[in-house]
Amino acid sequence: MRAMTIPKPGGPEALVWSEVPDPRPGPDEVVVDVRASAVNRADLLQRQGHYPPPPGAPAYPGLECSGVVSEVGSQVTGWAVGQAVCALLAGGGYAERVAVPAGQLLPVPAGVDLVDAAALPEVACTVWSNVVQLARLAKGETLLVHGGGSGIGTFAIQLGVALGATVVVTARAGKHARLRELGAAHTVDYREQDFVAEVHRVTDGRGADVILDIMGAAYLPRNVAALATGGRLVVIGMQGGRKGELDLGMLLMKRASVHATALRSRPLDEKAAIVRGVREQVWPLIEAGTVRPVVHARARMADAADAHRLVETNDHVGKVLLTT
Ligand SMILES: NC(=O)c1ccc[n+]([C@@H]2O[C@H](COP(=O)([O-])OP(=O)(O)OC[C@H]3O[C@@H](n4cnc5c(N)ncnc54)[C@H](OP(=O)(O)O)[C@@H]3O)[C@@H](O)[C@H]2O)c1
Repeated sequence: MRAMTIPKPGGPEALVWSEVPDPRPGPDEVVVDVRASAVNRADLLQRQGHYPPPPGAPAYPGLECSGVVSEVGSQVTGWAVGQAVCALLAGGGYAERVAVPAGQLLPVPAGVDLVDAAALPEVACTVWSNVVQLARLAKGETLLVHGGGSGIGTFAIQLGVALGATVVVTARAGKHARLRELGAAHTVDYREQDFVAEVHRVTDGRGADVILDIMGAAYLPRNVAALATGGRLVVIGMQGGRKGELDLGMLLMKRASVHATALRSRPLDEKAAIVRGVREQVWPLIEAGTVRPVVHARARMADAADAHRLVETNDHVGKVLLTT
């Protein structure tokens, strides 16, 4: 098969579409013939040599895929050759075939195109596990999503609205109209406006009950300031650095909490539990059309370098897909 190798980490040109050995399924795995994968922020870091795959994961980038099952491991039940699926991966999506632990497979939701299904697993599992499972976002609460135009952000807006929350997003101004269409009640241009003041203004001084953060250190003090009493800050990205100052006094007075999680390195059983939760709670929303994949562009897998260049500009809204 062909897969995206990175012989020497670096810029987008470091991605080389090469002949490699086919994967074989372990007893608890299936092999998927990949129809599409998607570019995630983490792939840019992996390409630069900063985010190696966890032990046991395929060496090629790609944290999700859609496709058709072509082989089933000896211990796997419930999946069959020929089934259309999408999957959460620890790597290996930028390839023609990938071996996937069976617990990380999902059926393609009814009404979703096979290629577009590749836009779903990583964002659905990340947003659901953090915003619902961990932070327990409830109906009537306010959710602040940083990077509302990202793959993660566009999904978080829709899921937050579907759960009955009021969603506030930060994003560059050019993306605001699209993010309002997706359901954001309030949009903050972080280049021109102070998001702490904006969140307090639109919540009558209460603050945000849940914050989904991708900026890390750069936003930590302001995120804590933007939290409501009993608020939950969940950090999933460190685009603004990893070491910040935490005002424990403010956290304590608000009886608030700060969490930080990464999905890729979680043990297989935890990933399987997340995938089950997503299938039970999120897939029905997708099949009802309440939550949709947001696809900015499709590119050929062999042109992944161009897709990485596009994502590096941050001009996209939603996901950039790669097709075989
Ligand atoms: N921990 C986990 O398990 C996990 C899993 C998946 C993703 N993530 C993280 O989630 C983040 C989003 O991932 P993705 O693949 O969806 O990314 P993406 O589509 O590449 O989007 C990145 C976004 O960052 C925004 N941004 C840049 N500077 C900003 C700022 N100062 N304030 C607010 N937004 C800003 C950009 O929007 P503008 O154009 O508006 O600036 C862009 O939309 C990444 O940091 C990624 O590492 C974490």
